[in-house]
Amino acid sequence: MLGKHDSYEEVKPINDLLCGAAKKRVYSANEWDTLEEVIVGVVDGAAVPTWDPMIEAVVPDGQESFFRAYGGKPWPANEVAAASRELENLVAVLKSEGVTVKRPSTESFAKPFSTPNWSQQSGLYAAMPRDYLLVVGDVIIESPMAWRSRYFEGTAYRALLKEYFNNGARWLPAPRPELSAELFSTQFSNGQELFGEEWQSAVTEFEPVFDAADFVRFGRDIVVQRSHVTNAAGIEWVRRCLGPSYTIHEHQFHDAHPMHIDASIMPLAPGKLLINPERVKDVPAVLKGWDLLPAPRSTLPASHPMRMCSPWVVMNVISLDERRVIVEASEEPLIKALRNWGFEPIPVPFRAFYSFGGSFHCATADIRRRHATNDL
Ligand code: ARG
Repeated sequence: MLGKHDSYEEVKPINDLLCGAAKKRVYSANEWDTLEEVIVGVVDGAAVPTWDPMIEAVVPDGQESFFRAYGGKPWPANEVAAASRELENLVAVLKSEGVTVKRPSTESFAKPFSTPNWSQQSGLYAAMPRDYLLVVGDVIIESPMAWRSRYFEGTAYRALLKEYFNNGARWLPAPRPELSAELFSTQFSNGQELFGEEWQSAVTEFEPVFDAADFVRFGRDIVVQRSHVTNAAGIEWVRRCLGPSYTIHEHQFHDAHPMHIDASIMPLAPGKLLINPERVKDVPAVLKGWDLLPAPRSTLPASHPMRMCSPWVVMNVISLDERRVIVEASEEPLIKALRNWGFEPIPVPFRAFYSFGGSFHCATADIRRRHATNDL
């Protein structure tokens, strides 16, 4: 046993022994330490899920006809090709900034599948690793995913997860959900301005469900929102798994279609938080005292096809460290605001990707950010 007066120098050799190496291959505790390795999603093989209440709860108004026309079929090829080009360019930019990039395997999601209790005409995609993988320190959590279409999304990450496991990561899949009718509620708040007690999720408390992207990491403090894919039981599962050395703070934003927290708040550096000015009326108590930058509106034309999310993905940026941040190239107001705030924005075109439901933060999952051995 280590006594409380043992110095770090005495502890370190034991720590190294326990860890088996000076540094972990998988280690990321926040959104701003220097990024060393990242997974970047793939749009090739994407399919459009069939229209159902879970989709209705979160997609922008006016998209039902797209889902009715393409549901169960491959995502329109022109949209896939344009987003795929942007992803390849993002990969090149990340590599040129010194980041190791890994990709999920390319699967065809336009295939029907079933469990003994339900069936689905297609999957979705492996475009958004952030939705599925939650890295907390050296643990990789695989989310249960509440959408039936996303039930087998993990297949695309399987080879990477085994590689990380073989390199020492702790690998923690959430309990496999049943996704039976009892999980889904038709009494959900749909685009209504209801918050607090009155807001109704599209998922019940039948079993724990969450998407990784409803969590955002600030070291030992993690902020989470309940959403149309994340319930209280899912949050409690993560809380108990991480144990008492982490504090999970639940917060509700004024989001009429909540699904994924990373277009509501985005920490860029210690004490610096980019916020969605429409959704953030108050910050979680743990972030009191942080400097807040209200994100300027997106410059996106109203005609741009936004199938799955709002233009607030303008603020869905990824930090390479406490200064460098990747921002969509046509979002000049945000680029300017970040420069004035002391950051070095790296403009990268990504509008075609927006159509798939997110931007840089969604399209990536950090695997390793620089850390000291004594963080472990
Ligand atoms: N639901 C958010 C919005 O419409 C988009 C969040 C996207 N995030 C993600 N990880 N896929 O503003």
